[in-house]
Amino acid sequence: MAKVKSKWICQECGYESSGYLGKCPECGSWGSLVEEVMYDAKMPNAAAQEFINNEKPALLKDIHIGEDVRLKTNISELDRILGGGFVQGSLVLLAGDPGIGKSTITLQTCGQLCKSGKKVLYVSAEESSSQIKIRAERLNIVSDNLYIYPQTNMENIKSQIEEISPDFVVIDSIQAIYSNLVASSAGSVSQIRECTNILMHIAKSKNITTVVIGHVTKDGNIAGPKVLEHMVDTVIYFEGDKYKSYRMLRSMKNRFGNTSEVGIFEMKSDGLHEVINPNELFLNERSRIAAPGSAIIVTNEGTRPLMVEIQALVGSTSYASPRRVTNGIDLSRLHQILAVLEKRVGLDFSKQDVYVNVMGGIDVDEPSADLGIALAIATCARDVVVDPQTVIIGEIGLSGEIYPVNNIEKRLNEAVISGFKKAIIPYGNNLPNSYEDLEIIKVKKIIDAIVSCVSAIKEA
Ligand code: TYD
Ligand code: MG
Repeated sequence: MAKVKSKWICQECGYESSGYLGKCPECGSWGSLVEEVMYDAKMPNAAAQEFINNEKPALLKDIHIGEDVRLKTNISELDRILGGGFVQGSLVLLAGDPGIGKSTITLQTCGQLCKSGKKVLYVSAEESSSQIKIRAERLNIVSDNLYIYPQTNMENIKSQIEEISPDFVVIDSIQAIYSNLVASSAGSVSQIRECTNILMHIAKSKNITTVVIGHVTKDGNIAGPKVLEHMVDTVIYFEGDKYKSYRMLRSMKNRFGNTSEVGIFEMKSDGLHEVINPNELFLNERSRIAAPGSAIIVTNEGTRPLMVEIQALVGSTSYASPRRVTNGIDLSRLHQILAVLEKRVGLDFSKQDVYVNVMGGIDVDEPSADLGIALAIATCARDVVVDPQTVIIGEIGLSGEIYPVNNIEKRLNEAVISGFKKAIIPYGNNLPNSYEDLEIIKVKKIIDAIVSCVSAIKEA
């Protein structure tokens, strides 16, 4: 008989203990340790590493890679964030909130891959075949080599993969499948870990590209342990505002490409469509009318610049300690920018609430947004406006000087395409006074940038 082992595993972080603990020593959450029973048939990792263990050392120059190591999906936004398509034999985790469109994008991907002659197996552990058929009709997917397999048992899935031998497998979702090797219920840490291990083993040994869909918890983490993220080759998050129609794909980990890329899609009645010019999406809501507290910046998300509007609201507080609220930027960044504005410009925020919002629901974590944020705050505090035809780019140092930013030409090109007339940029970027149709204002200090904005109003 197989040996039975039991462990107490934290459902939040994956910490393992041989006995019950009220509080997880790893992540500090209470009551999260649950007893999980494992049949010790094989060490979980041993299965996944078997194929590696049979290899012999080889000289790098003697290792040959096949012709088409990448599976192109022909969905250009997806291909781009993957670094040119799915790498064959890789295991990709696609995570996102319920209802964001994970099943939709994977089914569309399957449709595209089938069109280019690939054999695809879509394992649905949550929906029936007919439900998927309805969705496929809505998405206009017609294909002879797309297999739909409603199944939740990992061993059955494994034998079907071996029988059909597809090029591409989708598991929708990892939280709903279970392996006979583990006694705990589907969705528990050891089930997720075991099933991912088995899938990893199949993907690597048979060179089958596998996409695993994962749900995220309320606080935005992938349900299950962090180890899931460590085990897979690529982690893609699907995010966006449920109340707006566009969605963003962002790669958080990629063993075969860049991780700072974002792909933008719009959800329509017939599925997700790529957004080729995202600037229209983020700026068209704005009528380009001057308003205090608004500034346009160009962030560089991955290889593509994006124009976004920063809005700030400054008003006298009715609290003992004033409120600082951000949406889309880091709160500590706001504190730092406010400190610089107080010390180097002489603005006083000690009795003022400050709210900063990145419009369009995207997160900006690039330092080049500093100057735009600072100008939005400063102009709102003084009730003046930044010329709406101006883009603002620059990183702010603690002494108030503006530091140069990378990829400035790319950002300016984007501003030119979007019809802007003027750009306030760091002096240190060493650009001439005009760039194509843009008038360039170079600033050394934050105060220069504020003065140039205010003088622009006076001239106008
Ligand atoms: P779905 O892919 O089922 O989300 P997930 O798998 O991440 O839970 O997408 C569900 C939402 O997408 C649902 O609210 C309806 C919407 N939707 C459309 O707007 N158009 C479509 O063509 C499809 C298939 C779904
Ligand atoms: Mg789904």
